[in-house]
Amino acid sequence: MQFKTDFLIIGSGIAGLSLAIKLAPLGRVTVVTKKAASDTATSLAQGGIACVFGTDDSFDLHQQDTQRAGDGLCHEDIVEMIVSQGPYHIRELENLGLKFNRESHNSDMLDLGQEGEHSRRRIVHVGDYTGRSVQKVLMDNVDSLPSVKVFEDYVAVDLIIESMIKSYSPSSPKKERCLGAYLLEVATGDIHTFLAPITALATGGSGKVYLYTSNPDVATGDGLAVAYRAGARIANLEFVQFHPTCLYHPKAKNFLISEALRGEGAKLLDPLYRPFMEKYDSKQKELAGRDIVARAIDTELKNSGKDCVYLDISHRSADFVRERFPNIYETCLGFGIDITKEPIPVVPAAHYMCGGVVTDSYGETDLEGLFASGEVACTGLHGANRLASNSLLEALVMSHRAFLRIREIFPDLKKKLFPPVPPWEIRGAVDLKEAVLISHNWDVIRRLMWNYVGIVRSTKRLKLARQNLSPILEEIQQHYWEYILTRDFIELRNLAQVAELIIIAAGKRKESRGGHFTIDYPNKDDWNWRRDTIVEKFRKEK
Ligand code: SIN
Repeated sequence: MQFKTDFLIIGSGIAGLSLAIKLAPLGRVTVVTKKAASDTATSLAQGGIACVFGTDDSFDLHQQDTQRAGDGLCHEDIVEMIVSQGPYHIRELENLGLKFNRESHNSDMLDLGQEGEHSRRRIVHVGDYTGRSVQKVLMDNVDSLPSVKVFEDYVAVDLIIESMIKSYSPSSPKKERCLGAYLLEVATGDIHTFLAPITALATGGSGKVYLYTSNPDVATGDGLAVAYRAGARIANLEFVQFHPTCLYHPKAKNFLISEALRGEGAKLLDPLYRPFMEKYDSKQKELAGRDIVARAIDTELKNSGKDCVYLDISHRSADFVRERFPNIYETCLGFGIDITKEPIPVVPAAHYMCGGVVTDSYGETDLEGLFASGEVACTGLHGANRLASNSLLEALVMSHRAFLRIREIFPDLKKKLFPPVPPWEIRGAVDLKEAVLISHNWDVIRRLMWNYVGIVRSTKRLKLARQNLSPILEEIQQHYWEYILTRDFIELRNLAQVAELIIIAAGKRKESRGGHFTIDYPNKDDWNWRRDTIVEKFRKEK
């Protein structure tokens, strides 16, 4: 079937829903999401939103902290813009119904949490389940808007771009134009054509490319992959942020132990229960940058040969811990760990993609009519390593900026002639009966990325990763034409694509900086490498 809408938003986390709410008065908004609308990384965010409210804080300090974490690659103008617009967007969320924690009952003052590399307390939060609360408030608002329609269980197969359409001469030959997307309806297996003058990618991250991740199952890099295939530039994918502390328990799949625990004094302990961060960063210790803490844990694990280290907050009062971290307390208790009495077993896991689809300061990508915001985008805010709790802030500000630009250009784009877009062609494909063809490659890629392209890298391992991935990419390409598409297969194709792009980006950068560390170039090289790494389909990478 063919659907026409004014605004097509792919993804239903904070970036997608906040944009949908703003666009609602301008026309028909279609939000598509590949599982349930609440299955997002936003829902899992524990920490909160970094924002300047403290009387001892300033925009300058928040900017400096962001830039220090970003290790020389943040775009200063973007940092300044996003940080300074923070308070406005926090108030906006409050007006939508979000109730952030206050210093005390009836207090006007927001309770401000502390996280690593922040020189001041500045994390506004709702207990330790901020993301879940944000998701709920945004969804409740979306549900009340008649012009917004949400399609659950629709997976983006590819963007539709003007040059795909044979015998059609593009309206602006110099710039590719996005016309919408082909989307798989999971329930029927049909692939529908969704046409829209404006398409926005808000698909989140790609943590599932690694064996261990804090991300939800949906984080398979779909937005990155479709944008790359459509010709958009992708930047800085080597900067994968590994969160130092995910719960280590055979039954816990991806449960994060928030950095806010370390902000409130939790200590990291080695397998013999001895503190060790002093050795790696004598000044900031547990509150050092995530890259430093994750590498420190990786070293401790490799040296000891053990499976996990520990995070201990049991020296704080049990009442404080239960009240400040109710979600972590309850979840750990469910796994038999009482965090008020004993240390929590933790390991690092892939957490956040600092790079993404290149956008300008209004969220506009290289393609006309295509926007991106949230984790899928690379605005220049995070540089080589994201400052904790800057991501929800970025998503809010950038979706708002995208709205401002869309409002300006939409009337003209709407008038532009739409070429005759053909329906998706099945070309005699048959059912893929053997699911093992997908699950095997899925496992191989994730293990390969963890072992060869993980927290510590080397030129040799990157080369091996590329060699091992290459036949998998070929096999996927072959299956793409032979078999009827399913959600699992589309995800595998995207995961493999993103894995390849991460390996290419990591191989290009001949230095160590932020989230990218290689033993072959252990130092930072500002002279040659203080710049973004760009990969682009139409400039085939070596
Ligand atoms: C955390 O709570 O540790 C995660 C926050 C973030 O990644 O920004």
